[in-house]
Amino acid sequence: MKTFHDLAKNRRSIRKYLEKSIEKEKIDQILQTALMSPASKRTNGWEFIVVENKEMLKKLSECREFGSKLVADAPLAIVIVADPSKSDVWYEDASIASTFIQLQAEDLGLGSCWVQVHNREKNDKETAEDYVKNLLAIPQNLRVLNMVAIGYKNEDRKPYDEEKLQYDKIHWEKF
Ligand SMILES: Cc1cc2nc3c(=O)[nH]c(=O)nc-3n(C[C@H](O)[C@H](O)[C@H](O)COP(=O)(O)O)c2cc1C
Repeated sequence: MKTFHDLAKNRRSIRKYLEKSIEKEKIDQILQTALMSPASKRTNGWEFIVVENKEMLKKLSECREFGSKLVADAPLAIVIVADPSKSDVWYEDASIASTFIQLQAEDLGLGSCWVQVHNREKNDKETAEDYVKNLLAIPQNLRVLNMVAIGYKNEDRKPYDEEKLQYDKIHWEKF
């Protein structure tokens, strides 16, 4: 039986995808999981924009000079947006939802990768966030955290090795 520990161990960022679209039931399940992610004071200030259109995925992949190109070859990206007037910790809420999305994708046999938008530049004139907002007609008052690219895996990544984890990061009782 696959346990949560197996899921955490096997989830690695996948940046190469098969040219195969994701079944609607799987997309729906991922989105349901996103909607079940915990948010501060249950404000649920996040919004999820599901993108499958190839041309739009290509445009989204150009939101940064490096680190976002993989989106062009993914069959799906979910852009995670949040309303700072609903939650003063929108960043945390949206990050948790993104992680839920990635783990649900892994559980469905899909690969995924977080692509950062917030705090990144497209070029010296425009932020990645403004570029994405424009492309997807996102209201000005909302913030874009990231996108999660998802697809069937077209690369093998080694699972984490419990023997090699950074146990020195763990502090008991006191730093
Ligand atoms: C906040 C955050 C931002 C990230 N941004 C990017 C990104 O813009 N592009 C990318 O290819 N990977 C990005 N990643 C993926 C990380 O590079 C990856 O999770 C890390 O190297 C660990 O590898 P693993 O996911 O395979 O365990 C991001 C991950 C996090 C958590």
